[in-house]
Amino acid sequence: MRTISKSRKPLRGELTAEADKSISHRAVIFSALARGESVIRNFLLAADTLSSYTCMEQLGVQISRQDSLLRVMGKGLEGLQEPTEVLNCGNSGTTMRLLTGLLSARPFFSVLSGDRSLNRRPMERIISPLSSMGAQIFARGQGHFPPLAVNGSRLKGIDYTLPVASAQLKSALLLAALTAEGETIISEPQKSRDHTERMLRAMGARIELVGQRIRLCPEAELSPQEFIVPGDISSAAFFIVAATILPGSELLIRGVGINPSRSGIIDILVQMGAKIKLENKKVISGEPVADLIVSHSQLKAVEVEGDMVPRLIDELPVLAVAMAVASGTSIVHDAQELKVKESDRIETITGELKKMGVPAHATQDGFIIEGGAGPLIGSRVNSHGDHRIAMSLAVAALLAEGQSVISNPQAVDISFPAFWQELERLSQ
Ligand code: S3P
Repeated sequence: MRTISKSRKPLRGELTAEADKSISHRAVIFSALARGESVIRNFLLAADTLSSYTCMEQLGVQISRQDSLLRVMGKGLEGLQEPTEVLNCGNSGTTMRLLTGLLSARPFFSVLSGDRSLNRRPMERIISPLSSMGAQIFARGQGHFPPLAVNGSRLKGIDYTLPVASAQLKSALLLAALTAEGETIISEPQKSRDHTERMLRAMGARIELVGQRIRLCPEAELSPQEFIVPGDISSAAFFIVAATILPGSELLIRGVGINPSRSGIIDILVQMGAKIKLENKKVISGEPVADLIVSHSQLKAVEVEGDMVPRLIDELPVLAVAMAVASGTSIVHDAQELKVKESDRIETITGELKKMGVPAHATQDGFIIEGGAGPLIGSRVNSHGDHRIAMSLAVAALLAEGQSVISNPQAVDISFPAFWQELERLSQ
């Protein structure tokens, strides 16, 4: 349980954004496929990315660590070894989906499993195209859910249009394609985060954009890198929204990744009237980064749909909190993917915000929030074991009258273990 009282003070000061989860996963997995030692600076030390780290060790990869600096001794694409135990992916969909793609093409047997939440998440979306490439993957629930058993084999390239904009699915296919026979072409219904393409290309993979399609030609040797992981806009988002909605706040958030495939939250908040200045823009390890200065402002309602959705999919729960205080009715469409995240985020965020007095309504593909209906009311709320729901509710609780009690607060360990300390420090 975590008790949070209505904040009597604004949020002021500065913080460095927590390291990016998506890029940390990829850095440790991809480094293992290069020949030679890669260095990863500012690796995210959180439960999810440590799942990828330990799975890579189970696959025979040597990794040494000093704080957040990792040295990964890659043995090339053919260098992974058959794991003797089940690969435990914990809560991490990224670990499971990326590794399934990779291991489908390795000449050995592996089993991947996760926690209760992960073992309820859909895997048919990766199994179906990987099977068309020749993969042999067996799964619980008539081929839908983990645990997964993978009997690695020689694959062939595929020309495939993803049914959903999913970077995990796209990355699984690209990893399988690295050693497949013939080229692989992938089309996306909307553009999802492109860290895999950027990183693999920097390592020497033959990967190019042909119009809206991604083409990968196999068998290029990958070279080791020095990766510097930027700050995670998805973790920064909780503080961006908190500073925007708490009167008198001004926060400097350093080193935030602003890759256009991830930065929809900034665009939508600015459209709502938020004051967010981007300074000190630079490119680190192929990713655009900036310092953000966020100050309090009055917000108005907004509609989110279409191509915007994949650009802020993980930020929709905390955006719902901003919508609750904005004037007018906000609507999110085209976000049915929220149903298959760490929790059913359409149900969990609307259900918990309702307990705080917010007129929030779940729909088939998103939610409707009637903003500014009255003050939020401190309540007993539940994170449902979902890190992003826990942090979104914490932001709502800062503004809610009286006290709120959040159950399962340790869920933040998945992506942002220092969240509670940072929140306390900045609200002093
Ligand atoms: C991620 C992709 C997204 C995102 C997740 C991380 C990634 O999931 O929601 O938190 O690192 O590739 P989907 O691929 O399911 O959209």
